[in-house]
Amino acid sequence: MHVKYTPKTWIKIAGIAICFSQSSCVQKAESSSLKNAFQNDFLIGAALGTEHILEKNQKADALIKREFNSITPENIMKAEVIHPEANKYDFNLSDKFVAYGQKNNMYVVGHTLIWHSQLPAFVNKISTADSLRMFMKEHINTVAGRYSGKLNSWDVVNEALNEDGTLRESLFYKLLGENYIKEAFDLAAKADPQAALYYNDYNIEQPAKRKGAIALIKKLQASGTKIDGVGIQGHWSINDNNLKEVEDAIVEFSALGIKVAFTELDYTVLPNPWDLKGAEVNQNFEGNPAMNMYTESLPDSVQNQLAKRYEDLFRLFLKHKDKISRITFWGVNDGHSWLNGWPIKNRTNYPLFFDRAYQPKKAYDAVLNLKSTN
Ligand code: G3I
Repeated sequence: MHVKYTPKTWIKIAGIAICFSQSSCVQKAESSSLKNAFQNDFLIGAALGTEHILEKNQKADALIKREFNSITPENIMKAEVIHPEANKYDFNLSDKFVAYGQKNNMYVVGHTLIWHSQLPAFVNKISTADSLRMFMKEHINTVAGRYSGKLNSWDVVNEALNEDGTLRESLFYKLLGENYIKEAFDLAAKADPQAALYYNDYNIEQPAKRKGAIALIKKLQASGTKIDGVGIQGHWSINDNNLKEVEDAIVEFSALGIKVAFTELDYTVLPNPWDLKGAEVNQNFEGNPAMNMYTESLPDSVQNQLAKRYEDLFRLFLKHKDKISRITFWGVNDGHSWLNGWPIKNRTNYPLFFDRAYQPKKAYDAVLNLKSTN
């Protein structure tokens, strides 16, 4: 069953929110949650790890159910996990993930069907176009087919572009040429005709890569392939100043007649090795306190900077809400974020809305406040 959403119950007159039914007023009173606050704007999602899917932690579980109406599996639907050997699939966790979404009336995103990374060993050994095509066909038919009608959207192809907008020389590109992208979308459309099909990538708000993505999407459309949206991942730094690019990207992608989703949102508050101009290339950053400055807590000044970044970003999202389908955070809370382990292992990062104790941070309040002051 595909998820349906309740219609608007609040209207604004001269900037004042007026409620027309008792039930929606009650909802507003208890609506200090992201999914309620933005229910008429876009979906609000989170990437779930295995511990969340298995409902191992009560605090995390309560938070997910309270705040989010969309879920994406952070790792467990990637080929390496779900299809570890040529004739072996492992649906143990993915079945539970989809059931979790259905049980909680959430919009369920599949991530991801075709990606050069986290491929099973047997695929990396493939050396002929026929065998790779066979893998792609079987993989998409089996995985997308299994969840047909139960899942709302697929990231069909992930990260196919280089920073300059050309196509990445992945195994798929090398053996099948650029047509592999069309083949993957066509297979997905056949396996799950109802799911919204997305192309997903990072940095595609940046001009050169965006241009490449637009060309790619136009080609798919011109060849009659179904593509419903583009996912801008949104792995950014609090030092990035990219709102102009983000706005241009929303407008330009939307002009193609597709939806825009922000699929993996987070802001690192820590320096990245490549931020350090002139840094010694071979320098080892692990265990370097200058690269991991907030091991005890996040200073107020940085907390405020993070809040301001998110507030400005969500103000932009609201301006373009008619073009945006979903905002998904890449993780549930700071303790769970992949940014504690990348690009330097064992750091203490603070990229999300909820802290290590599952409490909302200033960024959360600042963003919710946009709804009460709009
Ligand atoms: O499951 C194994 C475990 O058995 C092993 O002991 C351990 C040792 O390192 O590794 C575990 O696998 C890790 C896996 O996450 C599951 O936790 C991998 O090392 C680790 O590299 C992997 O990282 C994931 C990364 O994708 C892989 O490329 C991150 O959690 C995940 O957040 C990240 O997500 C990607 C999106 O899918 C696509 N866009 C970029 C985004 C961030 O890189």
